[in-house]
Amino acid sequence: MRAVVLYESMFGNTRDVATAISQGLGVEVDVEVVEVSQAPSSVDSNVDLLVVGGPTHAFGMSRDSTRTSATEKTDEELVSLGAGLREWLAAAWMPPSTAVAAFDTRVAKPRVPGSAAAAAHRRLRRLGARPVAPAESFYVEDMTGPLIVGELDRARRWGEQLAAEITPAPA
Ligand SMILES: Cc1cc2nc3c(=O)[nH]c(=O)nc-3n(C[C@H](O)[C@H](O)[C@H](O)COP(=O)(O)O)c2cc1C
Repeated sequence: MRAVVLYESMFGNTRDVATAISQGLGVEVDVEVVEVSQAPSSVDSNVDLLVVGGPTHAFGMSRDSTRTSATEKTDEELVSLGAGLREWLAAAWMPPSTAVAAFDTRVAKPRVPGSAAAAAHRRLRRLGARPVAPAESFYVEDMTGPLIVGELDRARRWGEQLAAEITPAPA
């Protein structure tokens, strides 16, 4: 079994969640973690599960304008410098019924409606993919992080659950 975890991240939090998800998945399946601007727009037919994630910006997936705004929040170089998850999904192709799941990171307080994962999940469905889990959010304390304590463990467990969805149950 082969899984790909594709992520977009400004300050590193979503990248860290992607890594934790891959650790959970990796117990059962071969897994590759790819930054979104490095990912080909076609998903190989030998990918058994595609997991996509990004930061929630302005109640949904990032755009050029929100990514520019993110550069103004830090003196550090951003993790994702190219196009984001929204642009990748707009151009993506994958075999029909590819197993998929979507996650995001969001601020814990105040918790506002809108989620990049929910938007990505909808787009994946329109692409003909087959979600194996509801869209999932992982929470940061503040705009640039850090992640709330326990979220990386939750991400690892979520990865394990996703792996269980695509691996046949023992006889
Ligand atoms: C321009 C901008 C808009 C944001 N809008 C939202 C929002 O609508 N809802 C929310 O929960 N968090 C919002 N955030 C916080 C991000 O979700 C947070 O920065 C992200 O989870 C951190 O992940 P990263 O380190 O991978 O970029 C916003 C952040 C930025 C930079």
